[in-house]
Amino acid sequence: RDIFGANRLNSNGVNLGDIHTVNQLTTNIAAQEQATYHATSLIPGAGTPGELQQVFSPADLTRCIGSYNLTRSEDTDLAIENAHQAFAGWRDTRVDLRADCLLKLADLLEQHRDNLIYLLQNEAGKTLADCIAELREAVDFCRYYADQARGLCGHGEKMPGPTGESNYLYHQGKGVFVCISPWNFPLAIYTGQIVAALVTGNCVIAKPAEQTSLIGHYTAQLIHQAGIPEAVFQLVLGPGSQTGNQLCQSQRITGVVFTGSTQTAQIINLNLANRKNAAIATLIAETGGQNCLIADSSCLPEQLVKDVINSAFLSAGQRCSALRVLFIQQDVADKVIDMLKGAMDELNIGDPRLFSTDLGPVIDAKALNILQRHDQRMSAEAQAIKTLAEPDMNGHFFAPRAYEIKGLEILEQEIFGPFLHVVRFRANELDQVIDAINDTGYGLTTGIHSRIDDTIEYVISRIQAGNCYINRNMIGAVVGVQPFGGMGLSGTGPKAGGPGYLRQFMTEKTITNNI
Ligand code: NAD
Ligand code: ALA
Repeated sequence: RDIFGANRLNSNGVNLGDIHTVNQLTTNIAAQEQATYHATSLIPGAGTPGELQQVFSPADLTRCIGSYNLTRSEDTDLAIENAHQAFAGWRDTRVDLRADCLLKLADLLEQHRDNLIYLLQNEAGKTLADCIAELREAVDFCRYYADQARGLCGHGEKMPGPTGESNYLYHQGKGVFVCISPWNFPLAIYTGQIVAALVTGNCVIAKPAEQTSLIGHYTAQLIHQAGIPEAVFQLVLGPGSQTGNQLCQSQRITGVVFTGSTQTAQIINLNLANRKNAAIATLIAETGGQNCLIADSSCLPEQLVKDVINSAFLSAGQRCSALRVLFIQQDVADKVIDMLKGAMDELNIGDPRLFSTDLGPVIDAKALNILQRHDQRMSAEAQAIKTLAEPDMNGHFFAPRAYEIKGLEILEQEIFGPFLHVVRFRANELDQVIDAINDTGYGLTTGIHSRIDDTIEYVISRIQAGNCYINRNMIGAVVGVQPFGGMGLSGTGPKAGGPGYLRQFMTEKTITNNI
């Protein structure tokens, strides 16, 4: 069943024909019911594994899909020491060899597609379409950064200078990077951070989100298989408040690459700044958003509604890029809201392993609880447009909701789930709308649906957002095509999957020679 026609491309350009083939190859549900996976830290010389944690499918809380051992604090310290010892050798390894490891990893990710999809579906609750898009993104990161690194590292950039003097600028690895990733892109973002740091000559200690430790471990093994030495890339497993804090408080790390909530980025920033006698650390943080779409009365309602549905509800709204607030011009608001209700009725929420499922569960009980509390507040203070029903399943399910609100003041923070807010505005209120969006302080994605070029240009020039989408959906940035990342509360830059990303991982050295 496909509400938009059998051969549509989804937001990432994944052809549903492909998905169907892969579905037959990879998702034998009976076989999946029997599978389990165990993960542990990957640190040369580590002692006995720490406490065991069981992992349950977010779609079925009775189904244990595996387990992992927490990393002991002394082993986290050992990982930092190992990385230090390994750094100079890796920094001085030829960039071609480092880049070749990324290409090998890209191939391995493709070869291990079935197992990775199994883990993405069962540990992260992702639909098949999302799994395939995520796998492709991880592969793209490897190939794109391998190519970029060859152009940047290993040879000097000739600078101008007076006769008799040569000037060259070199780039080389900075040191030990901690890569901290979120559960909502446990393969793509996790891999992207790690390979960017590695290919530029840094050692990496990765700490995946605790909710997706199994995927982190499986991928880590592929990274080693691709040729990255064990001490150059290590894996620690544990909660952010303990393992993450310990890593970011260490004097001996050089930088942190973080993707997650704005609040956690602020804690990491403080921890890095409070380290005594430590060099000033690099922090690359990609965080949340309060993403809005402005649609004026010239928009095409059918296209708008399709893009709103995809942007707000697919991936269970658990994308940093997802649409949270639709600003719709009063003249077309009733019509669009009516069509939105109809399109929401067609959404299928349920078992993420089924081909017919549009959205699966949210990640855990905490995420569900935040959404339920927001729903209670909205039902008291806003006007309900549509509330779908949760499936009769023993998982963390939260069905899509849409509410009409008066303005952004009621939304104190990012609501991370399939929750759409709708605000009406009048033609003469466009400036107030733009000001309100900018005043949130976030600046990740923005959409504009309009057929008036001047309006589009005006909105795009005034809006403070890292990624602006015109007359299309707002999710699924493609590596090397739509460099992705926000501004303000949404992140530091540079953009992932863009030409500026790798430079932040390297130190610059100018060599001047009086020949
Ligand atoms: P989170 O901030 O709770 O956790 C992210 C990571 O940080 C996890 O690995 C967690 O263990 C770790 N962590 C938590 N506390 C820590 C601490 N004190 N020190 C060090 N590490 C710590 O975020 P989440 O719930 O996993 O992910 C969802 C959030 O991520 C949303 O806000 C979403 O918008 C954002 N996100 C942003 C992007 C982007 O590219 N801008 C992409 C995906 C997700
Ligand atoms: N890069 C992801 C997207 O664009 C978060 O949806």
